[in-house]
Formats: sequence, C-alpha cells, structure tokens
Amino acid sequence: MAIRKVAVMGHPILRQIAKEVPPEAIQTPEIQGLIEDMIETMREYDGVGLAAPQVYESLQIAVMEIDSGNPRYATATNTPVTVFINPKITPLTEETTGMWEGCLSVPGLRGLVYRPSKILLEALDRDGKPIKKEWDGFPAVAIQHETDHLFGKLYIDRIEDTTQLAFNDEYRKYHQGE
Ligand code: NI
Repeated sequence: MAIRKVAVMGHPILRQIAKEVPPEAIQTPEIQGLIEDMIETMREYDGVGLAAPQVYESLQIAVMEIDSGNPRYATATNTPVTVFINPKITPLTEETTGMWEGCLSVPGLRGLVYRPSKILLEALDRDGKPIKKEWDGFPAVAIQHETDHLFGKLYIDRIEDTTQLAFNDEYRKYHQGE
C-alpha cells in the first residue's frame, strides 16, 4: 500500500470524464492495489472520500469512509469503507440538503453546496458485485461529491452563491454549525 499524490484544481485530469472499469478487471492486482492506495491516501489526509482521478487515475472508482472522529468534518455519522465503481446516481427526492463541502483537490476552502437529500446508488463493489442502495444524510453528499469527480466536476462548480465560499479558518469561525 502507498499514499498517492493528490491532484489539485487546475490539473486537467480532474476535468476529464473517467473511464468505466470493465467488471472483469476489478479483481486484477492493479485495480485492487489502486483501491488500497486510495483508501490509505484518503485516511492520510483525513478525507471522507476520494475518487481515482484525484490520484491521477482516470477510472470510475471512488472510496468513502466516514468516521465521527474525523477532524475535517464534524458529524455523528459513521460509515465503514465503501468502494463504488462505475456508479450511477438517481435522486429520490426533490428536497435538497446544503452542506459546507471541502475537497482534497481544492485545499484550504469550504463552500456551501445543495444536493438531493436522498439518492439511489447503483455501482459495483470492490469484488465486482453489484450494489444497489439508498443513501441519505452525510454519506449521500459524499457519494454525490465523489461521483462528480468521475465526471470531471468539482464541488466549486455547484456553489450557487459564491459569498458562501470560505477559507477553512473563516469557515470554522463564521459558518460552522450554520
Ligand atoms: Ni473532492
């Protein structure tokens, strides 16, 4: 396992549409090794999710792990490591939830983004088995944020009101808990 370098905003790989992973390739040492490295990299930088393009691999693979002790996100939600490959997201409600998102590829900033509150995630897991699961709350936000990465989008693109974009310290002082 290895901690990978994280691409930051401005690098073109973050704006490409990542390639789907052929299901038969998921069990290969290359893909399994990439998944392990992504989990290690996410943990090293206190991320709650990471997408393969963020570690310079233009493939539709994302990982998520939410721990209530994460120093970057105050949340009571715990979600064990979840790997999703070739994801498809269907919103299940018109209702949206606003969250101050951050991103390891957009260091130092937080911005308020609204996304559908409840989604259906269809994808393949790390063994290549189909997953079909409804999500809401914090994990639903993380899944949508990571899936955006696979389609060349950053959360910054979804900020409707740029007065709601802040540096980390100012976010903590003036916006956290809003
Ligand atoms: Ni991100």
